[in-house]
Amino acid sequence: MSKLDFTGRVAIVTGAGGGLGKQHALALARRGAKVLVNDLGGAVDGAGGSVGAAQAVVDEIRAAGGEALANGASVTDVAAVEAMVQQAIDAWGRVDILVNNAGILRDKSFTKMDLSDFRLVVDVHLMGAVHCTKAVWPHMNAQKYGRIVMTTSSSGLYGNFGQSNYGAAKMALVGLMQTLSLEGAKNNIHVNCLAPTAATRMTEGLMPADVLAALQPEAVVPAMLVLAAENAPTRTILCAGAGTYEAAHITLTEGVHLGLTDDTPERLAARLAEVTDRQGEQVPQSGAAQGTNEVGKAFAAKR
Ligand SMILES: NC(=O)c1ccc[n+]([C@@H]2O[C@H](COP(=O)([O-])OP(=O)(O)OC[C@H]3O[C@@H](n4cnc5c(N)ncnc54)[C@H](O)[C@@H]3O)[C@@H](O)[C@H]2O)c1
Repeated sequence: MSKLDFTGRVAIVTGAGGGLGKQHALALARRGAKVLVNDLGGAVDGAGGSVGAAQAVVDEIRAAGGEALANGASVTDVAAVEAMVQQAIDAWGRVDILVNNAGILRDKSFTKMDLSDFRLVVDVHLMGAVHCTKAVWPHMNAQKYGRIVMTTSSSGLYGNFGQSNYGAAKMALVGLMQTLSLEGAKNNIHVNCLAPTAATRMTEGLMPADVLAALQPEAVVPAMLVLAAENAPTRTILCAGAGTYEAAHITLTEGVHLGLTDDTPERLAARLAEVTDRQGEQVPQSGAAQGTNEVGKAFAAKR
């Protein structure tokens, strides 16, 4: 079993002033990476900001003999994100790893949610990750190496009451990962998703104390390290919490060819259980798999 070694690698971790991001940054630095520690330094709902949170993590890394730089950009600010990536390039000449981790919550049932809270959450999680990824992408293409981790969530993958904004943004990151992993493949850019469960200020009020105690953020870090490593997979959705690791898959069932007649809606309704049956389902390698399955069945029905 070879040790996951990040010596010589340059990593950017967003939202690394506290919570999971801080543990990601500390672990990457401990294993040899030079780490740009980004954090807006705001409240859990995204209000306020200061570079102090990122600087404290940088101080901790340096005190342990590591190399790190602080950055206080909001991931929502394209110009500030570009400057952040340039800061890493100026200091260390490359960016090998991007961990898109920054995030906020504005929880409310959909009935009560203001559109401004929906937009802000999408802006931070989805567009924030897009801005950071877009800024590192040309560097990763040029150096023919990149590892990008998108932080998704079970709330996006499976839903969670009161988190329609957050869930939509987190699932959008899965979509972003699916296509970027295809586009990045030729230049050795691997893109993956991490779905953590951890006791942080984000989950403080949401779970009982003994449950939170089991969910140390440190227990998520091994999954991030595997997804950011040289021999990382690509297009994987890894779930992690309390020392257990799982994978989530977006699957396609075998389906049933019904053709097109006036009563197709009725026949589809009658056979819905067969259509949704998971026997023989696949994890498509790209979106083309759906059309291939459908057209293949249509051609077969004609024969
Ligand atoms: N804790 C969990 O159980 C859990 C579950 C699923 C997903 N997540 C995700 O993990 C990530 C880390 O969350 P956490 O639990 O450590 O919470 P956290 O609040 O401790 O960490 C989020 C960090 O992001 C920073 N941030 C917020 N907006 C920012 C912006 N615009 N620009 C830069 N930094 C910004 C915050 O200042 C904070 O330090 C988030 O993306 C979150 O959605 C967490």
